[in-house]
Amino acid sequence: MKAIGYFENLPTTDDKSLLAVEVPIPAVGPNDLLVQVHAVSVNPVDTKQRKRKPSQEGEPVVLGYDAAGVVTQVGAEVSGFQVGDQVYYAGDITRPGTNSEFHAVDARIVGHKPRSLSLAQSAALPLTSLTAYEAIFEHLGFSVQGGNEGKAVLIIGGAGGVGSMAIQMAKMAGIKVITTASRPETIEWVTHLGADIVLDHRQPLAPQLQANGVQMVDAIFNTADTAGYWKQMADLIKPFGHICSIVESKEPLDLTLLMAKSASFSWELMFTRSMFQTPDMIRQQEILNQVAQWFDDGKLQVTATKSLEPISAENLREAHALLESGKSVGKIVLHGW
Ligand SMILES: NC(=O)c1ccc[n+]([C@@H]2O[C@H](COP(=O)([O-])OP(=O)(O)OC[C@H]3O[C@@H](n4cnc5c(N)ncnc54)[C@H](OP(=O)(O)O)[C@@H]3O)[C@@H](O)[C@H]2O)c1
Repeated sequence: MKAIGYFENLPTTDDKSLLAVEVPIPAVGPNDLLVQVHAVSVNPVDTKQRKRKPSQEGEPVVLGYDAAGVVTQVGAEVSGFQVGDQVYYAGDITRPGTNSEFHAVDARIVGHKPRSLSLAQSAALPLTSLTAYEAIFEHLGFSVQGGNEGKAVLIIGGAGGVGSMAIQMAKMAGIKVITTASRPETIEWVTHLGADIVLDHRQPLAPQLQANGVQMVDAIFNTADTAGYWKQMADLIKPFGHICSIVESKEPLDLTLLMAKSASFSWELMFTRSMFQTPDMIRQQEILNQVAQWFDDGKLQVTATKSLEPISAENLREAHALLESGKSVGKIVLHGW
């Protein structure tokens, strides 16, 4: 089958950084679905892996985590899925990626895609939706049922893929959303998604917050430079507040800065459940089905802002380069073979 992969870790300006390869159709395990991939989206994890994950024994590395497609085979132990189902999922970092015509994935991390969206629109959603949901409703302690009125979250990096979902989910749950964006197009995007207050992350955040009548916030969701924002986050979090970050730190973090406020910090890694096959791994299927329902109920807006056709090495290199510019707005999708 067709796939896009690489043998060497190269910059996107090099044609060999991502190229067309032929690989066997994967074997389907008892808990797996085999999915014919119709659309994928790119995430920073793809570009980070392309730069550092080595090829083993001359085999191409096939990346890609987000996918939407059609089930063509169902593993012996799987329930709730049939051949022909349209699904979407964010995959598993320990298995070959979705940049291939067919892909095997554990059914416990797969959801039925929103009925109201195309496969291409759906492919933009899984990884960022799972990350935003797990951060806001599992780590930061907000209730998914609502009743969060009077509470405020600061989302650092609002216009990226994750921020775009986090803003919408927080607003849907009645949380006041303060976010950051530094360019006219990203300010417009986060405002369109419902942010209540927009700060410029190129400037100190505290004076801008104070100018909006806010001294501290109940929770902070950091989707950008963790070490770079650490001191500001410690200053801005309320006593007993919670900070969650999704970006690896380039240097050690001084947890003592949170002690006076009895504030807490946690990491969110969307891949933890699949990587460790945790007993609650099926939560990701439930979350994806919940997110699909929210889209079908008109509660969330699509985040795909750029669509490239087909899924080719050239288009994937373009998508990686765009993401690496750090100026992506929403999500970039590739569809069709
Ligand atoms: N742990 C996990 O499970 C997980 C899951 C998903 C993503 N991530 C990580 O989270 C990060 C964000 O992912 P993403 O998909 O949202 O990325 P993205 O779509 O590439 O984010 C692009 C946005 O980042 C903003 N930005 C750039 N530099 C910033 C800074 N210094 N401070 C605040 N915002 C900044 C830009 O806004 P302006 O143009 O307005 O400056 C741009 O709109 C990546 O490092 C990714 O690897 C982790």
